[in-house]
Amino acid sequence: MRIGILTGGGDAPGTNAVIRALTRALIGRLGAEVLGIEDGYLGLIERRVRPLDRRAVSGIVALGGTLLGSSNRASPLDHHGRDRRAEVLACARELGLDGVVAIGGDGTLAIADALHRYGLPTIGVPKTIDNDILGVERSFGFDTAVARAAEALDGIQTTAQSMRRVMLVETMGRHAGWIALEAGLAAGADIILLPEVEFALDALVAVCREREAQQRFTVICVAEGARPRGGAAVLRAWVDGAPDPARLGGVAEMLAQQLQPRLDSEVRAVVLGHVQRGGTPTASDRVLSTLYGSRAADLVAEGAWGQMVTHVDGRVGRAALGSAAGGQRRVPPGHPLLHAARQIGVSLGEA
Ligand code: F6P
Repeated sequence: MRIGILTGGGDAPGTNAVIRALTRALIGRLGAEVLGIEDGYLGLIERRVRPLDRRAVSGIVALGGTLLGSSNRASPLDHHGRDRRAEVLACARELGLDGVVAIGGDGTLAIADALHRYGLPTIGVPKTIDNDILGVERSFGFDTAVARAAEALDGIQTTAQSMRRVMLVETMGRHAGWIALEAGLAAGADIILLPEVEFALDALVAVCREREAQQRFTVICVAEGARPRGGAAVLRAWVDGAPDPARLGGVAEMLAQQLQPRLDSEVRAVVLGHVQRGGTPTASDRVLSTLYGSRAADLVAEGAWGQMVTHVDGRVGRAALGSAAGGQRRVPPGHPLLHAARQIGVSLGEA
């Protein structure tokens, strides 16, 4: 049996630990030959593959990023206006692949589903730091992103306090505010803004004003996808041809400009950006990744093509690849963390 492994979409800490576990299990349990495909689906079309054996995946469990490289969100379904599915299938056959395991976010999983329907046996492993894939309650990489953001917020807190400033810290999270919510709570942010809860500028001003009179500093943790009541998220760029072309960013700076004239304190904005998803995964993410990689090997052993690894009620399971399509797993209105935030007096920016 010969199996290809590829990684697509934005990188997430723990991806290498998945590749390691999957490779070791495929070799150890199935005696499979494993090929690492470089740079996602494009590497398959361009035949950029290399053998993965136990040695090749040795010493990478703690390594951030992905040793295979990513497709940077390019899709073979619409690559510069061309449908390249036939080429993908032809290349996979030429390489003698019995199947491909695609590790990626909703875009990568949707492509894996389309390729499976087209005739290429695929299995998916969900990957996102945003923790927003349907059917996946805990994505690997999320814990690391929260830890990084919380540590940064801790740092911001001491400088905000010393300088008597209002500091806005922008986290990743386009559609879902899990990172901002957990990091904000972990670091004791005063205001947390999420894509799921529309904010009112007046409410932010009221909190900052009150704190100007007392604590004399305010830390606001804002997800990049947060938006004002009745308004839209701040768009930074549009990438044609990408499965999810909208690149968000700039909400912290926008809010800083809107808040400054209404406050006495100096207002500053900080964007955490890619530090949230780079570098060493936490121990917890390495363990989760190992579980995901091992479960993906189970799916290969079972011949469960067209399926993906899931994480429901604390257990890894499986579901049809298509089940990840059709939306994101957003913070639901009644979530206990939202309740906790409101109850302890953390503002969610609501009117
Ligand atoms: O992986 C998801 C994500 O981290 C989003 O939160 C963010 O908007 C996006 O990736 C940015 O990725 P890139 O800069 O690679 O386009």
